[in-house]
Amino acid sequence: MTNHKAESITITVVGSGYVGLVASACFAEIGHRVICVDNDEAKVRTLQAGGIPIHEDFLPELLNQHRGGKLEFTTDLRAAAQAAQAIFIAVGTPQSRTGSADLSFVDAVASEIARSIDSYKVIVEKSTVPVYTNEWIRRVIERNGVPKDLFDVASNPEFLREGTAVVDFLHPDRIVVGAATDRASDLLKAIYAPLTSGEYYAAGNRIPGPRQQDEPPPLLLTSTKAAEIIKHASNAFLATKISFINVVANICEAAGADVEDVSRGIGMDSRIGSKFLRAGIGYGGSCFPKDVAAFRNVAELVGVDFGLLHEVERINEEQKLRFFQKVRSALWTFRGKKIGVLGLAFKGGTDDIRESPALDIVQRLIGEGCLISAYDPAAEERAKETIPPGPQMRYVDSPYAAAQDADALLILNDWKEFCELDLERLHYTLRYPIVIDGRNLFDPTTMTSLGFTYLSVGRPGLSQPVDPISVFHAPKKKER
Ligand code: UGA
Repeated sequence: MTNHKAESITITVVGSGYVGLVASACFAEIGHRVICVDNDEAKVRTLQAGGIPIHEDFLPELLNQHRGGKLEFTTDLRAAAQAAQAIFIAVGTPQSRTGSADLSFVDAVASEIARSIDSYKVIVEKSTVPVYTNEWIRRVIERNGVPKDLFDVASNPEFLREGTAVVDFLHPDRIVVGAATDRASDLLKAIYAPLTSGEYYAAGNRIPGPRQQDEPPPLLLTSTKAAEIIKHASNAFLATKISFINVVANICEAAGADVEDVSRGIGMDSRIGSKFLRAGIGYGGSCFPKDVAAFRNVAELVGVDFGLLHEVERINEEQKLRFFQKVRSALWTFRGKKIGVLGLAFKGGTDDIRESPALDIVQRLIGEGCLISAYDPAAEERAKETIPPGPQMRYVDSPYAAAQDADALLILNDWKEFCELDLERLHYTLRYPIVIDGRNLFDPTTMTSLGFTYLSVGRPGLSQPVDPISVFHAPKKKER
């Protein structure tokens, strides 16, 4: 790898969404020249002017450092494609009505690239796409008259989590490259050489993360089809782990065991692993729901019964409903009840509300006539697009403002700042000290000893109905 170490490669990234923007900033960070293209002129102007459209740790630092130097933004795909050695396609692959991935953006970009290129390029699919997409991109480019020896199509899926995408990119568990020719795989190996050689981790000003110079990430070279399947199967497996632990949580709840203990006990088995075994209100986001459906669809298309994924989806839906019923069991009736909500994004650490279980629950509560005061450290603006502020929906600027005089407080995502709440202050801020925690952020014993009625997911005693006498007729604490 050492002969690749100092090589700076010119890379075009098509698409400036989560994946495209993070990949662009990180490729520049590891020494390449990057041209990030988007057909949204307003977005490109924002990026050129120093705006940062998404909430992502370390992204502002990287964009500020590399913008105007190694990293530029443009709408001119033709010029960008001609200048680059590798062209990464990172456009959206939304879910179609049938559950399959809608690849029309990928198709359009591939055609435009084909009409632009005049020298050898490696075209790399970075978007999450079903198996065979690589073949389709190749066909589209050939149909546009590009000779076979002027391009290769490779697959390089990403495994970035929103919120930690920069660290995930620069300190990955693995880098997967699906390529059919040495020419294509050599270029991709050279692109990632600063990471795989450990060189990046020796730099004094690197973005910190788990990888070290003597423990660089492996690069797995596969066929293009295997790389495509690795991406879908990884997300489907992680979603399966979450649905699995959520059902186990429901068993724990009924049996009087603590799912946190159970999860720890299962996770200590190195064959299973401790990650993605946190019970809660179900998974959301722009990836798991869409990718589980798309992978199920792939299975159907190739004649394989993947009923397991149907169950994963069903359990996920049911988990939100169970939580909603838990809130009902604590409040008895809903109409006119004031409910404080902490968390609107699909998880903590992001402003993304796509497929957010939190928003789903809030919408159900509004439908039942509740009055919501909601706080999220980053997702307010985006949430307002789905649930505009109004008589039943107030957006507030602190967790305590959400709790103010509320009949109950719901915790719907796992922002770190929620774990650091002043619980005594929370207690006297609430009208009734009821906390219903969909993310198991607090210790039930501590919460009970502080006088809260505390319900969480899969922990002892929670299947018991709330005792209305103790909750509603408990002596009110002193006001401050
Ligand atoms: C996910 C994958 O983790 C990434 O590897 C992948 O690259 C990305 O999708 C993608 O395909 O682009 P992300 O959607 O950002 O990343 O979010 P996760 O951190 O994976 O969480 C997904 C959902 O599962 C969230 O709603 C989260 O709260 C929930 N979750 C996660 C649980 O309920 N329990 C857990 O133990 C873990």
